[in-house]
Amino acid sequence: MSVIKLLPDSVANQIAAGEVVQRPSSVVKELLENSVDSGAKTIRLIIKDAGKTLIHVLDDGIGMNKDDLKKCFFRHTTSKIRNSKDLYSLKTMGFRGEALSSIASVSHMSIISNQENTKSLGYEIKLEGGEEKLFEYLGKSISYPQMAKEAGVKGKVYVQFVVEKNGAITDIKIIRGIGSGCDEEAKKAVKNMPKWEPGEQRGKPVRVRFVLPVNFSLR
Ligand SMILES: Nc1ncnc2c1ncn2[C@@H]1O[C@H](COP(=O)(O)OP(=O)(O)OP(=O)(O)O)[C@@H](O)[C@H]1O
Ligand SMILES: [Mg+2]
Repeated sequence: MSVIKLLPDSVANQIAAGEVVQRPSSVVKELLENSVDSGAKTIRLIIKDAGKTLIHVLDDGIGMNKDDLKKCFFRHTTSKIRNSKDLYSLKTMGFRGEALSSIASVSHMSIISNQENTKSLGYEIKLEGGEEKLFEYLGKSISYPQMAKEAGVKGKVYVQFVVEKNGAITDIKIIRGIGSGCDEEAKKAVKNMPKWEPGEQRGKPVRVRFVLPVNFSLR
């Protein structure tokens, strides 16, 4: 039986994100490096709640056109190198083409940009990494138990869990299950979920209890 599986892009990106984005300051570093690389003369940085609510970087560098904006958040897309030889003559701060894709996979990101001498007012691209990615992750990491498939069992498993102050997931419980292995499968997927952004009350991290419906449907 083959046991090796290709990770879906969304999960690979979240793993890579753990390397690039350890804390909000890593996001600030990556975005400021991009601004410096873009040749900006003025860079403005706006931060709310130590970067947990908002990190806003404005620069007057070269900017991106519509096509660049569509490409910039894919993994390994960069304007800074073309081949391995370029690695020996690097003058830029970034080159791996991973920062924006990593940040996008764990945040709600919006980029507005324009270039000089264009008639357009500029373009905006919005990426909702958070919840959408969570459901994508669940969809891809859960497999339908054979037993449930054969018995035609379908429906929603409600998994309750707590996101601790440090973002870790604890106290996983099935509050309504459908049996035939589905409950265990849903619990396992929640247990292996990437760390969450901890909840907040008046700027302070708090424990938050969540209930997540995991849908098992036969196609
Ligand atoms: N502020 C910016 N102004 C203009 N172009 C930008 C800006 N930020 C990003 N870009 C473009 O998007 C591309 C992707 O950025 P990203 O930070 O993901 O990768 P990188 O800087 O090439 O490499 P690294 O992952 O090492 O930072 C950049 O190569 C650049 O072309
Ligand atoms: Mg960069």
